[in-house]
Amino acid sequence: MNLSGKTALITGGAHRIGRGLALGLARAGCNLILHYNRSAERAQVTAVEAEALGARVLLRQADLSRLDDAAPLFADLPADFAPVQILVNSAAIFPKDTLADVTIEGWSQTLRVNLRSPVLLTQAFARALPDDLEGAVVNITDWRTERPYRTHFSYTISKGALDAFTRTAALQLAPRIRVNGIALGAMLPPAGASDAYWQSVLATVPLARAGGTDSAADTLLYLLRNDFITGEIIRLTGGAHLKM
Ligand SMILES: NC(=O)c1ccc[n+]([C@@H]2O[C@H](COP(=O)([O-])OP(=O)(O)OC[C@H]3O[C@@H](n4cnc5c(N)ncnc54)[C@H](OP(=O)(O)O)[C@@H]3O)[C@@H](O)[C@H]2O)c1
Repeated sequence: MNLSGKTALITGGAHRIGRGLALGLARAGCNLILHYNRSAERAQVTAVEAEALGARVLLRQADLSRLDDAAPLFADLPADFAPVQILVNSAAIFPKDTLADVTIEGWSQTLRVNLRSPVLLTQAFARALPDDLEGAVVNITDWRTERPYRTHFSYTISKGALDAFTRTAALQLAPRIRVNGIALGAMLPPAGASDAYWQSVLATVPLARAGGTDSAADTLLYLLRNDFITGEIIRLTGGAHLKM
């Protein structure tokens, strides 16, 4: 896919990894529908940064845990942002829970944000895409679905199901829409993580460093540009999956 002039909708694009992906898309010539939930100010700052890179940016707020908010993200778009040909599902929550202590509400919230919203957004995206245009979806997932976290039970299940959804949707939406994923490793320390915790994580990475946002953006652009990849989930882990 030639990315120049294409519109990309990215969820959770205000800050951290979502911001890095959004700026990567802007650098590649995309216009952005930049979704945020609570981070309005940071979304505004990221929008200004993307505009400085030449992108047109439309900000859209939505709590993706609310069923009704998914499809309207594609509705009533100004003419210069339609059609949306790229969807990046990055928004997620990372709660601490285990099989022993997870509550129904906690479980449901994680699945709503991390799984249901990418599914509903992909459905809305596919419905809105004109028949004669190609589209691409990239889901941001986590390699730890292969080696489950002990303390992020509902998150791990949600991302594992997102992996299955990525492959299933790739099959169902071919040949018009490609669906891929990026299974991230240690890219940025989780918000509020102690330095000791983060150093212990990095000690498990053969490349001995965090991935940062640029490598995630590079992988996203690769998946979008390469027209013969679908149903693939690329691990971006610095080799952590080889070691643990
Ligand atoms: N950081 C890492 O090293 C790492 C590792 C593996 C996988 N990942 C994956 O990479 C992605 C980004 O990670 P991150 O660390 O940058 O995440 P983060 O800092 O925790 O940010 C989460 C993002 O999700 C959005 N979000 C949360 N709840 C939402 C809701 N109810 N409705 C709509 N949006 C909601 C937030 O939007 P607002 O701030 O606007 O509310 C925010 O942009 C996630 O899918 C994560 O699982 C990250």
